[in-house]
Amino acid sequence: MKKLFLLFCMIIGVLTMAQASDFILIKGGTFQMGSPDSEDWRSNDEVLHSVTVSPFYMASHEVTQQEWREVTGKNPSSFTGDNLPVESITWLEAVEFCNALSRKEGKTPVYKVSDGGRTVTWDRGADGYRLPTEAEWEFAARAGTTTPFYSKRVPGADDVNFYGHYPYQIEQNYFNDSVLETQPGVYRGKTLPVGSFKPNPWGLYDIYGNVGEWCFDYYGDYAISNQTDPAGPDSGTRRVYRGGGWNDFGKNLRSAYRAAMQQSSSAYNVGLRLVYNGDKAPSGTVVTKEAAVTSPGSGKGKALIIYYSWSGNTRGVAREIQKQTGYDIIELELVKPYSNNYSTVLNEAQRDQHKQARPELKTKIDKKKWEEYDTIILGYPNWWASIPMPIATLLESYDFAGRTILPFCSHGGGRFGQSLTAIAKLAPKAKIGKGLSVHYSGGPALPKDVENWLKDNR
Ligand SMILES: Cc1cc2nc3c(=O)[nH]c(=O)nc-3n(C[C@H](O)[C@H](O)[C@H](O)COP(=O)(O)O)c2cc1C
Repeated sequence: MKKLFLLFCMIIGVLTMAQASDFILIKGGTFQMGSPDSEDWRSNDEVLHSVTVSPFYMASHEVTQQEWREVTGKNPSSFTGDNLPVESITWLEAVEFCNALSRKEGKTPVYKVSDGGRTVTWDRGADGYRLPTEAEWEFAARAGTTTPFYSKRVPGADDVNFYGHYPYQIEQNYFNDSVLETQPGVYRGKTLPVGSFKPNPWGLYDIYGNVGEWCFDYYGDYAISNQTDPAGPDSGTRRVYRGGGWNDFGKNLRSAYRAAMQQSSSAYNVGLRLVYNGDKAPSGTVVTKEAAVTSPGSGKGKALIIYYSWSGNTRGVAREIQKQTGYDIIELELVKPYSNNYSTVLNEAQRDQHKQARPELKTKIDKKKWEEYDTIILGYPNWWASIPMPIATLLESYDFAGRTILPFCSHGGGRFGQSLTAIAKLAPKAKIGKGLSVHYSGGPALPKDVENWLKDNR
């Protein structure tokens, strides 16, 4: 009996290992990348265009912590468990992991990282492990569909590990969710073992939710003509990640949704999924270079701290930054301020985000004065996992092109949510440096956290 049990355990063990390293041939083909104008919650960076991708192999699972540790000897994840997806890894670490695994398995590493990580060269013909391109990721996630999700039914908490209280399209029905096909469900607040739900039609587990997945591409506008195996812009300040994570709302799980973060930043809801080339992979090299971000005070211009705060926490962080740097500081005020009452402001902010309202700013900055600044240190509270709409008004009212934005955010547990991506979408020509997220007021650690963050951006 004991022997039988041991045999059973061994079989399960082997099956689990085999499952974790399964790669699926994604046959390649031509598809419409992006989303139609009619898709709820799309944004302008999802321009629909035709893309052809060559065949490639994609892991059925996100890389687990066990797999990561076996290669790197480390585990940076916020939630720990061998079978949980690795997270809290930077894009640069993800790329180094691909190379190290390739070496370990006798494959040719595909990336060359030089210039302190600023230049990354991808040998497209090499047979090693790599990150998917955005196009490969979206092609595989869609599995032939053109709808917002690979399933006709909007995913809920029984299908995907995400912020289950907020399924897709809850926003327009926020005050009457009985009309929703997919009802709000559980929010687990953590990652789950990879493969906990049914896979997409092509056998990919957790392609939505659990953790977002780093892609190769720099974030930028799509090049839309004759796209075969596109690899994104040659230069930028943010890399794309896709699929949404355990703390993302339903709208940010969509197949077309693009999220972006600095390549040297990490987040507790972003990990990776491996791919490698199939037959007929394109050859040649792709060279990408990180665009230089101006560190405050180093360029010709000055730095300005500008922030919106509803209950004072962001104000406290802004004042600490000002104390340490002496930079000019401006608090944004509204022509029609939000209610002082917490439950009322929750509803007002929800409505404004849903409408993508642009509340009028009482604070005006003289355009000439604005020209003096090349670095904008931008602060806001996390509202509904994104920026408050007054920040959207600011980003659209002033010229951010070529300027560096250093974002800081006060939050109640959701850290940046999708706010960094929201800023990237509204100020596409700005360079975005490393952000600082502060839990509520930041507590006694605030001065040190601010100091370290300012150093990081130097
Ligand atoms: C309208 C509203 C929405 C919020 N949404 C979130 C959220 O999605 N995630 C989160 O972590 N905190 C959320 N919070 C909490 C705030 O981010 C947090 O209290 C922050 O410290 C407030 O900063 P402030 O004092 O500068 O306004 C929300 C607060 C309000 C008022």
